[in-house]
Amino acid sequence: MILVTGGAGFIGGNFVLDWLAGSNEPVINLDKLTYAGNLDTLASLKDVPRHLFVRGDICDRELVARLLAEHKPRAVINFAAESHVDRSIHGPGEFIQTNVVGTFNLLEAVRGYWNELSGEAKQTFRFLHVSTDEVYGTLSPDDAPFAETHPYEPNSPYSASKAASDHLVRAWHHTYGLPVLTTNCSNNYGPYHFPEKLIPLMILNALAGKLLPIYGDGQQVRDWLYVKDHCAAIRRVLEAGTPGETYNVGGWNEKPNLEVIHTICTILDELKPRADGKRYASQITFVQDRSGHDRRYAIDARKLERELGWKPAETFDSGIRKTVAWYLDNQDWVRNVTSGAYRDWVATQYGA
Ligand code: NAD
Ligand code: DAU
Repeated sequence: MILVTGGAGFIGGNFVLDWLAGSNEPVINLDKLTYAGNLDTLASLKDVPRHLFVRGDICDRELVARLLAEHKPRAVINFAAESHVDRSIHGPGEFIQTNVVGTFNLLEAVRGYWNELSGEAKQTFRFLHVSTDEVYGTLSPDDAPFAETHPYEPNSPYSASKAASDHLVRAWHHTYGLPVLTTNCSNNYGPYHFPEKLIPLMILNALAGKLLPIYGDGQQVRDWLYVKDHCAAIRRVLEAGTPGETYNVGGWNEKPNLEVIHTICTILDELKPRADGKRYASQITFVQDRSGHDRRYAIDARKLERELGWKPAETFDSGIRKTVAWYLDNQDWVRNVTSGAYRDWVATQYGA
C-alpha cells in the first residue's frame, strides 16, 4: 500500500480518487482536515475498504511512525501543506509549522521506518514530495521557463516555506540516502479546488452575482495544468523517477489572469447565461494587488517528458470547460465547503 498525506485537499483528493479508480493497491490517507481539507471530496470512497482515512498531523512524528510500522507502505507521497499565498501573507506561522516543521517530522519518521527495511522493500521504497514552481521566484516576460536547474528565489512566505521543505528533502537524500523524489508543479485547476484560489473563486463569484476581484492590472502570468494531469505525472514519477532527482511539471499553458477570467466568463455566458442578459465579464473589478506578487511563472517540463514520457492530456481550453461544468454540476460540494470559516476568510481578504 501507499501512504498519502493531505489527501483530503484539492490535489491530494484528486490523486487518491484517481489512484483507487485505477489500481487495487490500498491507500492510507493522513490528513489534519484544516479548513482546506474536505471529507466531502472523498465521499465516494465511504464504502471502499482500500481507502483508510486517518485524521492527523504530519507534525506528529509518533503517529506517522506508528502508521508506517503498522501498514508498511511501499511509498509515502507528501501533499500535506498550507498552500494559499494570500493566507501566508496574513499569517505565515502555520506555513512554517506544517510546510517546514511538518516535512522535517515526516522525513524523520520515514527515515526511521526505511532504515529498518531490508532487501527489496528497502531498495524500492520511495518518498515523493509534492512541491511548487513558486520556489523558483518570478520571471520577466522574455525569460526562459523554469528548468530544474533554476536557482531557488522564493518571494512569499508560502514559497519560502515550500523551498525550505524541498531543501530538507534533498538533504535527507544526500546525507542519509533516503530514496526521495521531488516534483515542482505549476498552477493546478479542476474539480474539488477550494474556492479561495483564483479559478474556483471566479466561477462561484460570477454565479453568485458578486464582483470578480482582479489583483493589480491582471497581467500576471500563470502556467495552468489540469489537476488530473498533475496526478498522472506524480504516478509516473513514483513509478520510474530516479531517487534524488527533481521533476518540473507544467501544462505549457501560460495565461495572464485577465484572460483566464474572460475565458471563464465566456463559458458561463454559454452554459448558464445571466438572467438579466448581461455578460459575466461586467462583474470584473480591479482591486489592490497582492504584496510581493510574482509577475510570471512558466515551467519547462521537458525533462519529465524526455526521461519518463509524461505529457499533459488536457489543453487549457478542454480543462477549463470541464472545470466550469464540474462546478455547475456540484453545487452541494460547493455549499458545504463555503460555509463557516470560508466566509470569515473572504471578509478578511476582500472586505465587505
Ligand atoms: P490544499 O490546501 O487544497 O490541501 C492541503 C491538504 O493538506 C488539506 O487537506 C489539509 O487538511 C492538509 N493538511 C494541511 N496541514 C496538514 C498537516 N499539518 N498535517 C496533515 N495534513 C495537513 O492544497 P493543494 O492545492 O491540494 O496542494 C497540495 C500540495 O501540492 C501542496 O504541497 C502544494 O504546495 C502543492 N502544489 C499545489 C499547487 C496548486 O496549484 N494548488 C501547485 C503545485 C504544487
Ligand atoms: O504555481 C503553483 C502555485 O499555484 C501553488 O504552489 C499554490 O499552492 C497555488 O495556490 C497557486 O498559487 P497562486 O498564488 O498562483 O494561485 P492563486 O489562485 O491564489 O492566484 C492565481 C493568480 O490570480 C495570482 O496571480 C493572483 C491572482 N488572483 C488571485 C485571487 C485569489 C487575483 O487576481 N484575484 C484573486 O482574488
